[in-house]
Amino acid sequence: MLHSSIRCGLALTLLLASVHSQALSPEALEGKAFYPACHVCHNPQMDPPLGPPMWGVQRRYRNATLDEEDFIERMAGFVRAPSLEQAIHDEALRQLGLMPPMPLPDEMLRKIARYILEETFAPPCAHWEIAVKRALAQGDPAHAEKDRNMLNRFCR
Ligand code: HEC
Repeated sequence: MLHSSIRCGLALTLLLASVHSQALSPEALEGKAFYPACHVCHNPQMDPPLGPPMWGVQRRYRNATLDEEDFIERMAGFVRAPSLEQAIHDEALRQLGLMPPMPLPDEMLRKIARYILEETFAPPCAHWEIAVKRALAQGDPAHAEKDRNMLNRFCR
């Protein structure tokens, strides 16, 4: 009895996981195909990092925009022509400088932004671990503390 309910729970979890991974809209799926062009810099495993992990970019855009259309419009606009006035990721800006423009067709940029809106990115634990080590090596304990807090909150 117990055994079968565990099996049933497992089947349900697998079902939900597969439904979840298929939840991207057709537009987002097209955007995902172009996403490697962004991942070269936004890869959270990189040491040193070349761009901020998309997990945090997505959170900031979700907080700073009104709705899905605003999210897509603002992100596509930034990526086409990054500017200090439009940038909202102050921390990445300070550490990495402004992102270079990605002069891709507008439709493609909107699809990529739609993908970034819809995707469930894993918390960038490797990135925070790298950041803690780098901050300590640079004698910046306050910054190390901040990234350690993110690790404790999202990766433990
Ligand atoms: C050459 C490296 C590089 C590539 C390629 C790259 N980025 Fe970035 N990106 C960065 C850096 C560095 C930042 C942080 C500084 C900033 O915000 O401008 C950033 C920040 C961002 C931000 C946050 C901007 C803000 O409001 O501050 C978005 C959105 C973004 N990138 C989207 C993209 C997308 C989408 C692609 C692919 C089409 C992409 N990036 C490709 C380096 C890159």
